Amino acid sequence: MMRLLSEATALPPRADRIGARPPNEKAAFLRGLIARPLDVSALMPSSKHMARAMAELIPGNDGPVLELGPGTGAVTDAIIEHGVPEGRIVAIECNRPFIAALTKRFPRLKLIEGDASQMASLVGGSRERFSAVVSGLPLINLPMHKRRAIIDAALARLKPGAPFIQISYRGRPAVPASPTLSVTRARRIWRNLPPGYVWVYRRREPGMMPADRSEDIP
Ligand SMILES: C[S@@+](CC[C@H](N)C(=O)[O-])C[C@H]1O[C@@H](n2cnc3c(N)ncnc32)[C@H](O)[C@@H]1O
Repeated sequence: MMRLLSEATALPPRADRIGARPPNEKAAFLRGLIARPLDVSALMPSSKHMARAMAELIPGNDGPVLELGPGTGAVTDAIIEHGVPEGRIVAIECNRPFIAALTKRFPRLKLIEGDASQMASLVGGSRERFSAVVSGLPLINLPMHKRRAIIDAALARLKPGAPFIQISYRGRPAVPASPTLSVTRARRIWRNLPPGYVWVYRRREPGMMPADRSEDIP
């Protein structure tokens, strides 16, 4: 059952605020980092360049989007800027200081406090499929079976062919391609601290073109 921390309310449009970083974002990020350093595994929120590179990979803007590990909302903001209404984003975050910052910054966000590895039960109430999953989770810190379990659970909630978009600071994917999983390094972003990559995972559908395989990085 989905436990939302914030629901849609009658608030004024926030078009003027999209793309603007709150002045206290770095302090809020530091509070989350101190609370749970291993879960955060970054010194700064993603840059605008990284956040936009991730959001631009969301196809269309007609379905709900699931964000895993939104932190202080750097990528959430880019998803909204990309055209996905705030109320159509479901976000799972486990870190209390980040929950507080997100609730304030995005009052319409469907924010769930919890562990992304439990996403099946956390978003289980809805049968609707997501148009994309956007993940800031430090997958690389987890054992391989947990990384796979998170990606598999997310792909099961996606529309056919829809992307699982993952940030990474490494040139190798957190999970290698397999007969059922396509993996593509979509972007390299220099203007981020540290510079990073955007990876896209997709469930391999029957009849997928062989050309798609050539992009796989094992
Ligand atoms: C590297 S930070 C990314 C924050 C933000 N997406 C950005 O790009 O600035 C990793 C985020 O994942 C969250 N996180 C880590 N493990 C998690 C888990 N198991 N469930 C939910 N959130 C998690 C952390 O609390 C943090 O917000």
